[in-house]
Amino acid sequence: MKDGKWITMGIESSCDETSVAILQEGRTVLSNVISSQIKVHQVFGGVVPEIASRHHLDNINGVLKQALEEAQVTLKDVDVIGVTYGPGLVGALLIGLATAKGIAFAMKKPLVGVHHIQGHISANYIEHADLEPPFLALVVSGGHTHIVDVRGYNEYEVLGRTRDDAAGEAFDKVARVLGLGYPGGPKIDKIAKEGNPQAVEFKRVYLGKGSLDFSFSGIKTGVLNYLNAEKQRGREINPADVAASFQQAVMEVIVNKAILAAKTHDKKKIVLAGGVAANSRLREMLSYECKREGIDLYAPSPILCTDNAAMIACAAYYKYQEGLLDDLTLDAYPNLPL
Ligand code: KG4
Ligand code: ZN
Repeated sequence: MKDGKWITMGIESSCDETSVAILQEGRTVLSNVISSQIKVHQVFGGVVPEIASRHHLDNINGVLKQALEEAQVTLKDVDVIGVTYGPGLVGALLIGLATAKGIAFAMKKPLVGVHHIQGHISANYIEHADLEPPFLALVVSGGHTHIVDVRGYNEYEVLGRTRDDAAGEAFDKVARVLGLGYPGGPKIDKIAKEGNPQAVEFKRVYLGKGSLDFSFSGIKTGVLNYLNAEKQRGREINPADVAASFQQAVMEVIVNKAILAAKTHDKKKIVLAGGVAANSRLREMLSYECKREGIDLYAPSPILCTDNAAMIACAAYYKYQEGLLDDLTLDAYPNLPL
């Protein structure tokens, strides 16, 4: 029951997860229902935007109903509605947005549009009761690789970003050429545990001294070239070794840049976010380096790393606290900048 406490609803539909969550007081999750379409898209080797939109449409009402039931609240109890309005697939975003706007209009509730990446970062507030800005956020997902200076709940400066592929995108593409299937990140993570990370020396791209930007398209081509060269020589490849070496090369660059950013921007806290934040090697390497440098590391549990509406509700709560509201003209922005 509502119990006099503040209730925030979150809605997320930017890619292939339909999710609705109910939070109490911004950080306590009463429900976080996630309906994943992974199985639907697996046969295509990646997310098909049109199919994603249709499935969001089929799923959203059931997910909403379940989220309310699990939280034991009704729409009347909800004080504010947060919804992802970008970046993401436009048709997919529109389903969540139309649902949020419909409820806001019918129930006369305030509406808050949330940037998907702000949501990923906010997942950490749910998991760590003591966490407050300022801190440095390392956002690694299927669509983004960002180093962000988080100065306040709603004050962000992007210090570095990928110039081509996102980290998760590179994982998905390399997994595909290794025949591991979609989504590739968890598959590479798993198989790499049996491989030697030093077996193949893939190039680490740093883009010049002091740069906090990333580039992952080269390493993807590096893996392809290696596989082709070995095939031409008639040699068997060991997928576990290739996966482990690729993962090591990507994570070394990410970890080194995150530590460099923390040192140059005088940050004592690093917050990990996004789907790739679930990667076991990344967590291991980053936690080792953070300990060495006297930096506190925060990371969400795997369920809050993937796309979910609890993180959107949490971000909406803090936007609402600062009066950052939207109205029913709120639109979807596939390339919304942070
Ligand atoms: O944040 P997310 O769910 O969606 C976006 O906002 O993009 O991230 C999905 C990405 C996919 O590319 C997936 O392969 C990757 O996160 N991923 C992983 C792991 N789990 C998910 N990458 C590496 N290791 C993992 N354990
Ligand atoms: Zn995401």
